[in-house]
Amino acid sequence: MSGQKRHVGITDTTLRDGHQSLLATRMKTEDMLPIAEQMDEMGFHSLEVWGGATFDSCMRFLNESPWERLKVLRKAFKKTKLQMLLRGQNLVGYKHYADDVVEAFVAKAAEHGIDIFRIFDALNDVRNMQKAIEEVKKNGKHVQATISYTLGPIYDLEYYLKMGKELRDLGADSICIKDMAGILTPYAAYDLVKSLKQELDLPIQMHTHYTSGMGAMMYLKAIEAGADVIDTANSALALGTSQPATETMVAVLNDGPYETGLDLEKVSTLAEYFKEVRKNYQEFDVYKSGVDVNVLRYQIPGGMLSNFITQLSQANALDKLEEVLKEVPRVREDMGFPPLVTPSSQIVGAQAVLNVLAGERYKMVTNEVKNYMRGLYGQAPGKVNEEIRKKIIGDEQPITVRPADLIEPQIETAKKEIGDLAKNLEELLMYILFPQVAKPFLEGTLTAEKPAPKKDEPKEEKKPQGVEAINTNLSSGVGSVARFATNRRNTRMGSISFNFNGKIEKLKILVDGNGYQMDMGKFDEEIEEKEVKAQVPVPEAKEAKKETAKVETASGESTVTAPMPGKIFKIIKNEGAKVKQGEIVMILEAMKMENEIIAPVDGTISKINVNVGDAINPGDVLFSIN
Ligand code: CO
Repeated sequence: MSGQKRHVGITDTTLRDGHQSLLATRMKTEDMLPIAEQMDEMGFHSLEVWGGATFDSCMRFLNESPWERLKVLRKAFKKTKLQMLLRGQNLVGYKHYADDVVEAFVAKAAEHGIDIFRIFDALNDVRNMQKAIEEVKKNGKHVQATISYTLGPIYDLEYYLKMGKELRDLGADSICIKDMAGILTPYAAYDLVKSLKQELDLPIQMHTHYTSGMGAMMYLKAIEAGADVIDTANSALALGTSQPATETMVAVLNDGPYETGLDLEKVSTLAEYFKEVRKNYQEFDVYKSGVDVNVLRYQIPGGMLSNFITQLSQANALDKLEEVLKEVPRVREDMGFPPLVTPSSQIVGAQAVLNVLAGERYKMVTNEVKNYMRGLYGQAPGKVNEEIRKKIIGDEQPITVRPADLIEPQIETAKKEIGDLAKNLEELLMYILFPQVAKPFLEGTLTAEKPAPKKDEPKEEKKPQGVEAINTNLSSGVGSVARFATNRRNTRMGSISFNFNGKIEKLKILVDGNGYQMDMGKFDEEIEEKEVKAQVPVPEAKEAKKETAKVETASGESTVTAPMPGKIFKIIKNEGAKVKQGEIVMILEAMKMENEIIAPVDGTISKINVNVGDAINPGDVLFSIN
């Protein structure tokens, strides 16, 4: 190669997406600090160390203050730029917050050390990114505006170029192409980057997950088309559902007409450290070797598939997996082809499962889907199926304004609620974002998990109390044998084997107070808190029961049974209440979504058989009506 080599920057994601994708976001600050100085010397373009799910996980699982983590990391990284992932108006939570919260959050993150803010919206609705972009600029930091990459009839080059221009006009300093599912093929990446570069004249950074095995090739083609920066993780925490490995890309690029500013020998020394660290988190490790073919086949994120398996297994309906996988694209189409990323992936996935389990599409609809149809998550990227929308919200008109325009300022109200417990704005923000976790955290009463045993300490015998073997014999050809073990307070780990088109696949699943850990994205903190307090039901060995909310009329009394496993989230009508047919009696929380259980007939509630927080199985009687 002659002439000057073109510089390609490398962002190391090990301390954020790397452990979020492979170790359920459990890496502690104390495991980051010893290597910080060494990482700081490497010459990375930046380090992604904060945001995404880490804010929540820090408090919830590690009893650490996420602000404290940022402060100490900033102190430790003296040279390298630090970056975070920000979910637009959702910040690091799962719903829209008021503008005053966005303003305060961005200011504090900037003050404590974030240089580059990567901002995205689950619907690619730039109105949901606008406020965050403004605030980052106001604080003099770098705005990396993000295009979430997905597939579907509406997603052509024109779509992405239009979005790219909108982001540029809002003041983006660079553009990130976020391939959260690992479905961007190398050639598509080439065309996409080429057009964006021609049109926008902005630096482009690529983000992918290695789930489908295409990531490193995709990066190379994107770089050939002009991409400026790529996201990689240290080889010890790379591949699988994480990013392509840093060392691989450094070796490939430095050998070609590019230079990364990184030295392969030097950068290789980091893996020794992270290999050891990874051992501390074995119980959370979701690594599966090889390529997840289903991502290539169905273009759905790997985590989603494992969620379906867990959900269906709990409903004793694992034989419906294929049906659910076929239902996902149909639901997505009805909803106007949202990208599948937090939280839209959870919303679409849960509704697909409901549509299959209920035996009728949209017979049961989660509150999240209702709100989606009301426009409360933003504008759907494509056309929503109006017939389905009508079935779900009737004659109600969806909103057309930016959703956050309808949210009253939240800071002053929260201040009154929490009083002196929040000593500063940082703590108040923790409370606003995750009230149920932040309150006990600030009180010092949060029971965080005990530290994972270090490698040189004698390991506790992993043999848990109460090993349960589950053996569901489904005659349909899809078999499942799962062993679950309660290995810590409220946490069960296990593996599940299933026969998928003749191929036996084995997945590790972790069910804990937060739901199913194969899914890195979490959804609604309010619902999750309920789960923390109650045991997650483990599927029992019994014949597959496929019941939907059922009315049995005997001597004038109707009983309503649970259509699926879940937890009682709210009881709206009490015993003795008069109800009309179709009125909501209670809300069942299942698959992290809220499902309304309605009165099947007019009458009086004669008996409520459940309490808030109860874990229930399909077929359990919920209430009776006279
Ligand atoms: Co990612």
